[in-house]
Amino acid sequence: MPSNMVCGLCLLLWVLPQVWGSSKVQESSFPFRCLQISSFANSSWMRTDCLAWMGELQTHRWSNDSDTIQLVKPWSQGKLSRQQQENLQHLFWVYRSAFTRDIQEFVKMLPEDYPVELQLSAGCEVDPGNTSKSFIHVAFQGVHILSFQGTSWVPVPDAPSWMKLVIRILNGDQGTREMVQWLLNDTCPQVVSGLLEAGKSELEKQVKPQAWLSRGPSPGPGHLQLLCHVSGFYPKPVWVMWMRDEQEQLGTQRSDIMPNADETWYVQATLDVATGEEAGLTCRVKHSSLGGQDIILHWADGRRTSLGLTVLAVLACLVFLFVLLGLTFWIRRRHYQDIL
Ligand SMILES: *[C@@H]1O[C@H](CO)[C@@H](O)[C@H](O)[C@H]1NC(C)=O
Ligand SMILES: *[C@@H]1O[C@H](CO)[C@@H](O)[C@H](O)[C@H]1NC(C)=O
Ligand SMILES: *[C@@H]1O[C@H](CO)[C@@H](O)[C@H](O)[C@H]1NC(C)=O
Ligand SMILES: *[C@@H]1O[C@H](CO)[C@@H](O)[C@H](O)[C@H]1NC(C)=O
Repeated sequence: MPSNMVCGLCLLLWVLPQVWGSSKVQESSFPFRCLQISSFANSSWMRTDCLAWMGELQTHRWSNDSDTIQLVKPWSQGKLSRQQQENLQHLFWVYRSAFTRDIQEFVKMLPEDYPVELQLSAGCEVDPGNTSKSFIHVAFQGVHILSFQGTSWVPVPDAPSWMKLVIRILNGDQGTREMVQWLLNDTCPQVVSGLLEAGKSELEKQVKPQAWLSRGPSPGPGHLQLLCHVSGFYPKPVWVMWMRDEQEQLGTQRSDIMPNADETWYVQATLDVATGEEAGLTCRVKHSSLGGQDIILHWADGRRTSLGLTVLAVLACLVFLFVLLGLTFWIRRRHYQDIL
């Protein structure tokens, strides 16, 4: 078990590889996070999948169906040599099968039964002072049960009583704990600074949002729902608010920030207002890509725009009709003239 856990940690750390030590990036932080998801349906069916992100960008993926960790970005190898990468790959590969065996042993030993759902989250982050913070948390059946802290494994305060045995086994292995510390304290921050350097331009990219307004489903008689859509921005932090003059409308409800397929983000802000009170409202968007030039959309403008389009469309139809009619008359007249 100990050696397996060590490998597991190595794996995590490896996947974690992303901190940022580079002085140029020190204004922003890019935590490196690795998530391992292991599902055991019964004693003979299980799978383990891993995903890793640097900040908001996915860097690694490891499917149960594959023997090798897939590099998602051209810079996912960071500053590791081929040899270092192969060593880590091997370590994680050993870890994965050992982890499976260990969990199966634990289930035999403990009062818990299948199905078993385990999630491990591990990673690190380097702050502007060049100090790093690393972590490993483990969840069992969706609930956080244990973490690694300082030099040993620590259960959460309300962990089930059988955790005592697990902790005793895990902490009984000095070698593994040292390995974990090495991975957390040294390897992870190093890997992360390599990723930060290699992926710098993509990690620090700025993509401007597009914003537009629309009317939502009616919240009730005499009321309107105004929607402000903001899409296509990167990085994730964004500020969206409905305003009247300089006054923030506290009734503004912001949705979760949702991912677009192209690694940009989407969010919407809604505001319910009494009919007639919508005039003069604006939606204001602040984002780092805008360089202080906030996007400001006026509800009235939004309507005028759509009204303008409608008028334009009607006009186009009318013009077309007139031309058609004119042409018909002209052709008829020609026709009569010919006859006459
Ligand atoms: C184990 O679980 C898998 C997936 O749910 C199922 O297909 C299989 O029949 C199960 N095997 C046994 C022995 O229960
Ligand atoms: C996951 O991988 C292990 C090891 O390669 C394999 O034994 C197992 O059948 C796989 N699980 C699924 C659901 O494919
Ligand atoms: C940050 O710390 C690492 C070791 O933890 C060191 O190798 C690196 O040079 C330091 N970087 C700066 C900018 O101080
Ligand atoms: C690793 O860091 C932790 C604090 O985060 C510290 O308690 C521990 O002694 C360190 N271990 C080693 C081997 O440096």
